[in-house]
Amino acid sequence: MSRGSDVDGMKRSVEEMAARFTEQAADYDEEKGAEYRACAALVIEYADPDRDDVVLDLGTGTGAIALALAPDAERVIGRDISEGMLDRARRKAADAGIENVEFGYGEFRDPDVPTGRAVDVVTSNFALHHLDDDEKRAAIRVMAGTGARRIVLGDVMFFEGPDPDEPFYNPAVDDPSTVGTLVEAFTDVGFAVVVAERVHDQVGVLVAERIGSGDEVPGAE
Ligand SMILES: C[S@@+](CC[C@H](N)C(=O)[O-])C[C@H]1O[C@@H](n2cnc3c(N)ncnc32)[C@H](O)[C@@H]1O
Repeated sequence: MSRGSDVDGMKRSVEEMAARFTEQAADYDEEKGAEYRACAALVIEYADPDRDDVVLDLGTGTGAIALALAPDAERVIGRDISEGMLDRARRKAADAGIENVEFGYGEFRDPDVPTGRAVDVVTSNFALHHLDDDEKRAAIRVMAGTGARRIVLGDVMFFEGPDPDEPFYNPAVDDPSTVGTLVEAFTDVGFAVVVAERVHDQVGVLVAERIGSGDEVPGAE
């Protein structure tokens, strides 16, 4: 099935992806690789929210990024498609006594940010590579449309060509982009990529800052 080719196809695909992560949710936090940990640490460092900032973390999973940023922000909104992952994130927040984070259903294409809630910083770690190039461009447009001044993306991304002998992704279900494609997508919506950290040939962190006032997203309706 091609992903994103039609609304029904995309919907089924999102549901399948959600079910796959819900199955993994109980063990997800175990045995994370060095590259994942390095990437997550950089996303947290570069997100750098101010005390009065609202952070939107997309593909939040079990809340690794959202929960780490909550003590430094006014509020964190974590969005994901997998109820199993979201349940774990909520439990972790409760166990840690973190009250300024809210986890709920939201997709990259429609993160369901509460009406009237301004977003200052968008983060996403190891999640966007589940989308194809066109879907990623659309997701980056949605991120820009929140009005955020900064977007921090950690993910599987190709600095060199894909390496089938050492894949950081499952070609059957994942679809990482080149760094060039991602940089172009940010540029197209009025952001400048000010940092590109290469964690590995296939893993990196991009920090994109809005150019201009923040009121306009080129091409947005
Ligand atoms: C590998 S996990 C990463 C979780 C977390 N960001 C972290 O750093 O540990 C990827 C997450 O992306 C979510 N995801 C996949 N496709 C998505 C979509 N279209 N919209 C929102 N979340 C999605 C999955 O449900 C999963 O929880």
